[in-house]
Amino acid sequence: MTSNPPHGMQHSVSVCTHPNIKQQQLPLLRQVIMSKQSQGKKRKSEDVCAATAGDDDGVHEQQPITSEGAMPQKKFYRSRAHCNPLSFNESFEYPTSPELMDWIEDHYPEHPLLTMTKQQHAETETHTDDETPSSSSFLSSSSTTVNIQPNVLDIGCGFGGLTLALSNALPTHTILGLEIRTKVTEYVRLRILAHHKDHPNLYQNCSVLRTNAMKYLPNFFRKASIEKIFFCFPDPHFKRKNHPRRIISERLLSEYTYLLKPNLGRLYCITDVKDLHNWHVEKCGNHPLLQELTEEEMEEDVCVKLMKSETEEGRKVIREGKFGHEMYYRVYRRVVGDDGDNNKKTGEEENADTLAKVRNGRVGSVTAETYFAEGQFGVERINSK
Ligand SMILES: C[S@@+](CC[C@H](N)C(=O)[O-])C[C@H]1O[C@@H](n2cnc3c(N)ncnc32)[C@H](O)[C@@H]1O
Repeated sequence: MTSNPPHGMQHSVSVCTHPNIKQQQLPLLRQVIMSKQSQGKKRKSEDVCAATAGDDDGVHEQQPITSEGAMPQKKFYRSRAHCNPLSFNESFEYPTSPELMDWIEDHYPEHPLLTMTKQQHAETETHTDDETPSSSSFLSSSSTTVNIQPNVLDIGCGFGGLTLALSNALPTHTILGLEIRTKVTEYVRLRILAHHKDHPNLYQNCSVLRTNAMKYLPNFFRKASIEKIFFCFPDPHFKRKNHPRRIISERLLSEYTYLLKPNLGRLYCITDVKDLHNWHVEKCGNHPLLQELTEEEMEEDVCVKLMKSETEEGRKVIREGKFGHEMYYRVYRRVVGDDGDNNKKTGEEENADTLAKVRNGRVGSVTAETYFAEGQFGVERINSK
């Protein structure tokens, strides 16, 4: 993480908030953490980490333990199981608008659609004017570039099992795992690189991004740009007072439906916690832009099988069954709103409008800065005009 974010990128706060730790003590504590890690006393180092930073491990500088291209070992990348997404005091970089993201450069330099585009371009050059090149369904015939941006999101991807499986199952889609924990994200990044090395030409359509998905999604993704959004075994946050930390909520569902393509978009949720499943069914079932798929429709969807068999948590349920071996899941279709929202402006036009409003301080729900209401979770209002 650089101290000066690139053009258009915002930096959120990065401070140690633990009341017993003075800022001056941190470098010393980091050294302690690193030397214990180098002795292989990882569990202890995490305890120190939790005790000092009061949260996840990302504030600690570490030497790389896995060289790029090698398969990372999970034991070096474990971190605290749960974090509070509403007060996660780490530094996050995020763009002020989705237009500022360069997905190809930063995440998908060898995306299969790019390779196909290059091939098509080469073919086009050998065609005469009246011949139409084949396999051009996703490209304009004159185009030599293709717009690569994520259209499948694995929210809270953990160690990335589903992200990789989706990459294989949906080879022309663009898959992105999103994960809040630094070490876990790094594990997934290295795991993807190792797959690239072991399987040339495969897994080039998937990547991982470290972010807080409860805060920054509209900063990264355009309206109606997402086809599938997965919530696999999200943290249950059992206590009632912690329910606002749940990643599926009335308000966040409006954000997810904003991102999903009307008619085509699907929202997937799966958990082994019955109470959380009931919550999902209640929240999604009541949302006017979501419609539950039938059993038959769900069984026909290959992704439903994958979220049971390819997620690390799904495998754990089969293996250990902490809350029983049952997995509860639903899939919802993003339907068209009463205002026929897919017949109006294109996603790009809407985004431009939304951005203009955001810049004028007139939107209260679609950017990280303005997402939470005043007074909520300690958030101060950003003055609107
Ligand atoms: C129980 S794990 C499930 C991992 C994976 N989906 C699976 O099924 O194996 C939940 C994951 O969500 C991540 N997470 C929690 N809140 C998040 C947030 N606001 N944004 C991104 N990731 C989050 C956690 O760090 C954790 O890795």
